[in-house]
Amino acid sequence: MSKKITIAIDGLSSTGKSTIAKMLAKKYNYIYVDTGAMYRAVTLYAMQNELIVNGVVESDALVNKLEEIVLSFVFNDRLGFAEMYLNEINVEKEIRTLAVSKLVSKIATISAVRKKLVAEQQSMGKRGGIVMDGRDIGSVVFPDAELKLFMTASADKRAFRRYKELIDRGDNVDYKEILENVVERDRIDSTRKDSPLIIDKDAIEIDNSDMGIKEQFERICTLVDRRLN
Ligand code: DC
Repeated sequence: MSKKITIAIDGLSSTGKSTIAKMLAKKYNYIYVDTGAMYRAVTLYAMQNELIVNGVVESDALVNKLEEIVLSFVFNDRLGFAEMYLNEINVEKEIRTLAVSKLVSKIATISAVRKKLVAEQQSMGKRGGIVMDGRDIGSVVFPDAELKLFMTASADKRAFRRYKELIDRGDNVDYKEILENVVERDRIDSTRKDSPLIIDKDAIEIDNSDMGIKEQFERICTLVDRRLN
């Protein structure tokens, strides 16, 4: 049987981690796990259950409800990737709204939430053959991953890509608001106490401000192939 490795992709918000991760999973026939979707689904749960009041997260109440939050990924053949389900309901569209983006970094600072999600992520990846993207994959979830990537790009390029994505799917959004959100999320994600976003010592940094998807993908495939051979 051919060797199966673990590919950890971390980086700043909206750097195209999931696009690259999906392409890698398809090419190498690996499982793809979008860990940001899991934090987003917990955030949606908190919003739906009035555990966020005037922008303030009721952390203790949310922690008490964690056992009731069942997350699963269900592969969609038509789309070619797995979609996020929260308590058996497909929430793939709802978790990508700006309203969720504005609250998710706060939810991701709660240690009990991280503990639950990290345990689920480690269980999904224990057999290798996985591409996982997030903020703490190389540093916390899979410190022994064979390949660790760290994606960056300028804030305005990232905000523009996210803006286009939301406009294309019909959301009514403002570019400036998206830019502020991207910058603020990076700030919260990098400065939180538990598992902050860092460039792990073994990670290879890729700045894709001026790089197209094809060029990035080819470069990353070379790195994967080197680890497989
Ligand atoms: O990848 P994303 O933008 O969908 O992630 C949403 C938020 O979730 C991000 O701002 C921080 C948090 N997150 C995290 O703390 N750890 C992860 N492994 C993945 C995401």
